[in-house]
Amino acid sequence: MLVLDDALMTVKAALLDNSSLVRAVASGRRRNALVPYRRVELRYVDLATGRRLQVTAYDETQAHIRNVDEGVIQTALDELLATPYSNWHVDTTTETLQLRVTKKGRPMLHRASRETPAVADRGHDRLKQRRLDESDALFSALGMIGPDGGIKPTRRAKFRQVQDLIGLLEPVVDDAVTKGPGSDLSAERPLRVVDLGCGNAYLTFAAFRYLTQVRELPVQATGVDVKAQARARGNDLAGILGVNDRLRFVEGTIRDAPVDASPDLVLALHACDTATDDALARAVRWQAPVIVAAPCCHHDVQRQLAASRPPDRYRLVTRHGILAERFADVLTDALRAAILRIVGYRVEVMEFVDSRHTPRNVLIRAVRTGATADEATVDAYRSLIEEWQVEPVLAVGLADLHPALRGRG
Ligand SMILES: C[S@@+](CC[C@H](N)C(=O)[O-])C[C@H]1O[C@@H](n2cnc3c(N)ncnc32)[C@H](O)[C@@H]1O
Repeated sequence: MLVLDDALMTVKAALLDNSSLVRAVASGRRRNALVPYRRVELRYVDLATGRRLQVTAYDETQAHIRNVDEGVIQTALDELLATPYSNWHVDTTTETLQLRVTKKGRPMLHRASRETPAVADRGHDRLKQRRLDESDALFSALGMIGPDGGIKPTRRAKFRQVQDLIGLLEPVVDDAVTKGPGSDLSAERPLRVVDLGCGNAYLTFAAFRYLTQVRELPVQATGVDVKAQARARGNDLAGILGVNDRLRFVEGTIRDAPVDASPDLVLALHACDTATDDALARAVRWQAPVIVAAPCCHHDVQRQLAASRPPDRYRLVTRHGILAERFADVLTDALRAAILRIVGYRVEVMEFVDSRHTPRNVLIRAVRTGATADEATVDAYRSLIEEWQVEPVLAVGLADLHPALRGRG
């Protein structure tokens, strides 16, 4: 029968091979035993001074990283292997090795060869690139962490969405700071963030954690939703994470929920139908330096298209229901982007989450420039609404800001 020491020696041999180890994870604890960290990850990294064993130990709130010199790797591994973790998962370029220690203390060792060899990533700043690490307290507070200390398989899509949002926020954070508080940025004048239509607030918290933990900015954030339960849940979670002095949730409509001061960054993610227009209009009126909006369903323009007669030369586009629907989606967001340009924003429209996960995957990112819209954009906008005989809700909401937004004429 395999004894635990022999099984641990097998794991150690795999961990010591600095050419083939891809990654190893120790997690869980043996019966009646305590472990100092809930999860420890190991990999070799190439630094300017040579190859090191990188040990990342996760406690409840953060990751502790150390790079172990070659001469003391044996000792570091002996210490780790003597710690009563109940699971070791080791990936090498050629096999996967799993050691589980049962409740009775028996080792169960499983080895499986790979069909195709894996490649080991030796970059040393991978953690930083991941933007919001899965060890962040947020994910355990949201119940997204499984018994092995990693993201639960059922929550991986949400985790990816969080990372996607952060990736899309990243390039405009500096705009929000410089066009917002600028050099006044401080605890007294933090970056102000508002999330309109925050729902269950996964993304509000993700943006907040990213801005405060990764970017280390002072932030005051407000989540707005018409549902009382969204406010209650958001405030509870903010309390659990100890951030309810800087992140609060209010119940109210996007149009007129109370928000203390003009925000520097406005989020509006999947706010239903024209609620996205309400959010964009409010953000424009606040003169928000940065707006990040992911539209949801688009019924309004769809209804207007159905009621109007399309230009004859385009009737094949709207002949089939599904195509008419998709066209209405595209038209709605193209008009939103144009309107934002007309009222003084630089606008990008991009993919939010991978279209395999949801068809509602467009994201509008707008940075206020205050520049006057060029004539070509205004003309193109006017001809589009006139040809298709539509009146975007956003244009109605901002009609006093530019003559081009007043009616179809
Ligand atoms: C599809 S959920 C999206 C939640 C979250 N932003 C996300 O992306 O995961 C849309 C949320 O917007 C809220 N909502 C829709 N219209 C609203 C309005 N006019 N005012 C305030 N909240 C609104 C809904 O109650 C719902 O919680």
